[in-house]
Formats: sequence, structure tokens, C-alpha cells
Amino acid sequence: MSLTIWTNCRAATMAPSAEHAHGLISDAALVVEGDTLAWVGPRADVPTDLLARCMVQHDAGGVLITPGLIDCHTHLVYGGDRAHEFELRLNGASYEEIARAGGGIASTVQATRAASAAELQASSSRRLQQLVGEGVTTIEIKSGYGLALEHERKCLQVARALGQTHAVEVRTTFLGAHAVPPEFAGRMDDYVDAVLHMLPILHAEGLVDAVDGFCERIAFSTTQMERVFAAAKGLGLPVKLHAEQLSDSGGAQLAARYHAQSADHLEWLSDEGAGAMAATGTVAVLLPGAFYFLRETKLPPIAMLRAHGVPMAISTDSNPGSSPCTSLLLMLNMACTLFRLTPEEALAGVTRHAAAALGLPDRGVLAAGKRADFVLWDVQHPAELAYALGSNPRLKTIFKGQVV
Ligand code: NIG
Ligand code: FE
Repeated sequence: MSLTIWTNCRAATMAPSAEHAHGLISDAALVVEGDTLAWVGPRADVPTDLLARCMVQHDAGGVLITPGLIDCHTHLVYGGDRAHEFELRLNGASYEEIARAGGGIASTVQATRAASAAELQASSSRRLQQLVGEGVTTIEIKSGYGLALEHERKCLQVARALGQTHAVEVRTTFLGAHAVPPEFAGRMDDYVDAVLHMLPILHAEGLVDAVDGFCERIAFSTTQMERVFAAAKGLGLPVKLHAEQLSDSGGAQLAARYHAQSADHLEWLSDEGAGAMAATGTVAVLLPGAFYFLRETKLPPIAMLRAHGVPMAISTDSNPGSSPCTSLLLMLNMACTLFRLTPEEALAGVTRHAAAALGLPDRGVLAAGKRADFVLWDVQHPAELAYALGSNPRLKTIFKGQVV
């Protein structure tokens, strides 16, 4: 097979390196074979036998190349919007009060159930287009606004279909345990039974890559989530969890016990929870958009996560209620300004660690054998991606080896 070579670029490989921040190679070459990187390193070191097989040469024009960005936590497929609740909150109501009064997730469930697959496809496609336009090449999309078999199926099918119509890989997560739908009001455990009924059916239809839940005092208890996790484990499916967003419910420890790929939000994470996550390699997915939009004041314990060596990913949490956000670059900035991550930690959070949060070891760094998903940026230094507020310096995306 003939190869393609990209030269005249700086590459932030994001491979862990003691000497070079961002795994930076200042005069790099990337050799692509099909949808895979065959070789990455300094241009002067490209093996001659490989060079001889390079039939196509791309001059990157001296720009920066990074791995394709990975948005590892989104609720991208939903009907309607919640602009009205935004107004209510500005008039003094809290997110929890709105949720308890039947608004919040429940109002999006109503709008999502009312929407046809085609309508959901159209509205989600617009949001996805914005993320893809910023260099996102892998995205996770959760269900969780259908909360009944036919509607969860509809949302997961829409998510899968988005991966066919856009140059991006979609990973789907079943979030049946997101909220209790109105027909189960006051019967939470019965709804958990319903979730356990839906899961194997949707899994058999090939619609589920992972299982998630919202573990919180306004949502499901650790005991209820454990039933869902046990069922997921029985099907061989990986789990993840919305944990310690509004209170410390011990969700991180539960997630770790089930070797979760990630525990997400984590503003109220305890030292014990961080220790448990470190022991199982569970990634901490930090969501600065939700923190900002809900005007939270309790920061996720970054120093504690660092001290325990828990890998940190960053994501948009794109959803209508707590983070109506379709910019992963803005999240890079907010991870630095709000959470005080370094630009390097933030970029690792949307590349290497985001890949780990999805259980995808084949991407997230530029190295031989990894997928040829990468982005050309009109910047000199990778820190500029987190620094420039509201700009999009993306020039070109290469997805599975092909220029998009
Ligand atoms: O990740 N925490 C739960 N789920 C979403 C919010 C969902 C909503 O308000 O619609 C989140 O923040
Ligand atoms: Fe979320």
C-alpha cells in the first residue's frame, strides 16, 4: 500500500514525555497508511524505506498538528431547548428547584419524546457540525432524554446515524438512569427495573457502547446505580457515572468498584473517592461548561486529583440544561481559567485522557499504530488553543487518514 506523508509542521503528539511538553516535535513528519499512522517523529529521522513508499506528500505550511479532539461526554441528541429555565434561574430559581418542580431534565424528556427521529437528526446535526468544525474527530453521545424504550432507541439510533453523515466517530452511551420519567413518578425502583429491561434490548440492537447514570440526591442513589452497573457488567459493557456534581454521594467509589471508564463532574469528590479512582485507572471527566453555566462555586478538587495521579479529561457536557455548549475549544479555555489546569493538562484532557475515558487506546496521541485522526491549526504553540477565547484556528482535519 502506498503511503502519505505530512511535513513542514510542528506536532503536539500528546504522548507523555519528560523532556518535551505536549510531546512536541518542532520539525515533524507524519506518515499515514490507510486510516493509521505508520510513523511519527522528527522529519530528519523518517526511515528511508518508508519514505520511498510515500506517494503523496502534503506540505502543512509550518502549522501546528495535534491529535483529533475527543469530546468524551455529551448529551447532544435532544428536542427543544431550555432557554426559559435560563431566564428562571436569572430570576432567582436554582437548578435543583427547577428540577424538583418538574422542569429541568423532565422538560427536555417531553420535547425529545415529541420530536421525530428526523427532527432530532437535524437539530443534533447542527450542534455536531460546530464541534466537528473545531477539530472533533471522536464524540461520545448519551441517551437519557427518552427514558422509555422506543425513545431511548430513537435517540441512540440518531446518534449512530450522525456518525454516518459526519466525519467523526460516534460512541453511544445508554443513560436510561438519567431521571425518572413522569409515568414512574414516585416509583423510582420500578423505573430502575424498566432501565434493566431496556438495556439488554438496546445492547442486542448494537446501540450501546457503554452505560452511564446520574448518581445524585436529585437522581439515582448508589444502591440503584449499582443494580444498573451489575446488569451492564453482566452484558460485558463498560460503565461510567455522573458523580458528585451537586453533593458527595459516594458515586466515585461505586464507579471505581465497577472499574468505570470514567466518573464525571466530581465537584464534590472526596479524597477517598479520588483514591478509589486512582486505584482502578478511572478517568476524571471535568465539565467546566456545566460548572460555569450553573454558576457553581465549589471547584472540582484538581490538586487532589493530581496528587492521586487520576487522569483528567475535559468535555463540553453539551446538553440543554446545564451546558448548552458546542465548543470544545472554549472548554479548554475554561478548564484553565476556572479550574486552573495548565494548557497542557487541558489539551491532554481532550486528547489522550478523553480517549481513555472512552476506553479507546487507539487514539488521542500521535504515534505509530494509532488512528490517523489529526488537526492542522493556524497557531505556533499548543497553549494558544486554550488561550484564545472564542476563536477557532482550525485549518484542516484529517479523519481516518483522509482530508475532510
Ligand atoms: O451532565 N447531570 C446530569 N445531566 C446533565 C444535565 C442534564 C440536563 O439538565 O438536562 C449534566 O449536567
Ligand atoms: Fe452530563
